[in-house]
Amino acid sequence: MKTTADFLKMKKNGEKIAMLTAYDYPSAKLSEHAGVDMILVGDSLGMVVLGYESTVPVTIEDMIHHTKAVKRGAPSTFIVTDMPFMSYHLSMENTLTNAKKIVQESGAHALKVEGGGDVIHVIASLTAAGIPVVAHLGLTPQSVGVLGGYKVQGKDVESARKMMKEARMAEEAGAMALVLECVPKQLAKDIAAQLTIPVIGIGAGVEVDGQVLVYHDVLSYGVERVPKFVHSYVDAQSIMRDGLKQYVLEVKDSLFPTSEHSFTMKEETLHRLYG
Ligand code: KIV
Ligand code: NA
Repeated sequence: MKTTADFLKMKKNGEKIAMLTAYDYPSAKLSEHAGVDMILVGDSLGMVVLGYESTVPVTIEDMIHHTKAVKRGAPSTFIVTDMPFMSYHLSMENTLTNAKKIVQESGAHALKVEGGGDVIHVIASLTAAGIPVVAHLGLTPQSVGVLGGYKVQGKDVESARKMMKEARMAEEAGAMALVLECVPKQLAKDIAAQLTIPVIGIGAGVEVDGQVLVYHDVLSYGVERVPKFVHSYVDAQSIMRDGLKQYVLEVKDSLFPTSEHSFTMKEETLHRLYG
């Protein structure tokens, strides 16, 4: 399994980090098999696997439940779990209690928190407690209400400067990596160049230290439309839809199961049973 030290080394050597979300046993298993360097159990699970409108309703219990399944599917991959909405804002004691619960009960190797200035002390305290932390700047979906929608962040001088400063602060506070979501590629490139820790982009261009995407977006699985920054590598849902339709059809037409899928009793036993 790769460690935080390996990720730093990868950045130094210019070796790109491939990160992907996973939420359950099969997605984790396929991700590990594909050679993903780091799995994110993102609170995006609220939207892509639980069907919520946003990540806001996701609970600590949800994150633990899904991380445990991911661990079983990807026992040799570094796993980062999102701290969900409002689980790191009430007080430092409450934040540490929540972080302890997630790490101990789920086995996550690191936690991710969204936000800049307001969560720098959270990054520092969790790191001091021995928990590697991934920071997340740019579009931070837990604040969608405040941001007023899922929009590109850091497009003007003021917000770009703020993001640069917060990125440096996150590194100084001890963050092991930084996720930049929906950020102009020039700004993301500059932030990646300024930091020693890996910058993992999602909608942040190619000149960063790695990429992260949502599993269901990459496979086009159960998602209606994907954001501009996503590339769907296969159309899994059309294959799945066809397979499921065919199953229903064959059951209705008594075409399934065939004798190939059926068990038989010996002639002799049949004879004794029915005479
Ligand atoms: O929850 C998630 O999937 C994320 C990634 C999009 C970075 O936070
Ligand atoms: Na997230």
